[in-house]
Amino acid sequence: MAEDVTVEEITFIEEYVDELAALLIEVEEVGSSIGFLPSLGLSDARHYWMNILGPEVILLVATINESIIGSVQLYINQKQNRDQVEIAKLMIHPNYRQKGFGRLLMQKAALRAKQDAKSLLFLNTRAGDPTNQLYTSLGYIQVGRIPNYIMSIDRVLHATFVYYKIER
Ligand SMILES: CC(C)(COP(=O)(O)OP(=O)(O)OC[C@H]1O[C@@H](n2cnc3c(N)ncnc32)[C@H](O)[C@@H]1OP(=O)(O)O)[C@@H](O)C(=O)NCCC(=O)NCCS
Repeated sequence: MAEDVTVEEITFIEEYVDELAALLIEVEEVGSSIGFLPSLGLSDARHYWMNILGPEVILLVATINESIIGSVQLYINQKQNRDQVEIAKLMIHPNYRQKGFGRLLMQKAALRAKQDAKSLLFLNTRAGDPTNQLYTSLGYIQVGRIPNYIMSIDRVLHATFVYYKIER
């Protein structure tokens, strides 16, 4: 990794909302599968981030030179009889891709889940996306395919693959 990157957990969202909104808009403009369609407006993007944190949601951000270049979220299942965390909305700014930062955020997310004593990680990702290689290379196991799950920029519905990993 050429550039110095730090990964931190955000617990007070207000001071990061503008940067995160800009990141989300950039990521959506080039196409992604994280829940939005272009053209996402600034006010909708800000509204999304303002309301993101809660007892079940952990937000990690990757920063280079004090600018946020990526993020990932952990949805911690708080039920007493559950040991699971959903990892979601991994995103890296288009200018910083294919430098290992997505992989780094996934590794940090797994470590964060461990801190909460959660060992079952699961996620889903659009069929055909490079994330499938990323998650497989991190040891996630594909368990199924759900059709018509995610709409792309051209408004075509795509399947998603569901993955899990048990961290010991
Ligand atoms: C998916 C995403 C987070 C990857 O981030 P990244 O920092 O570029 O990923 P990394 O550099 O850590 O790459 C990790 C692995 O992913 C795969 N990968 C990532 N981008 C790829 C591409 N464009 N083509 C092929 N494989 C790719 C490779 O297997 C790579 O491993 P390698 O470098 O050893 O070959 C980024 O492309 C992104 O933000 N996409 C839009 C948002 C999105 O769709 N998120 C997924 C939600 S499930």
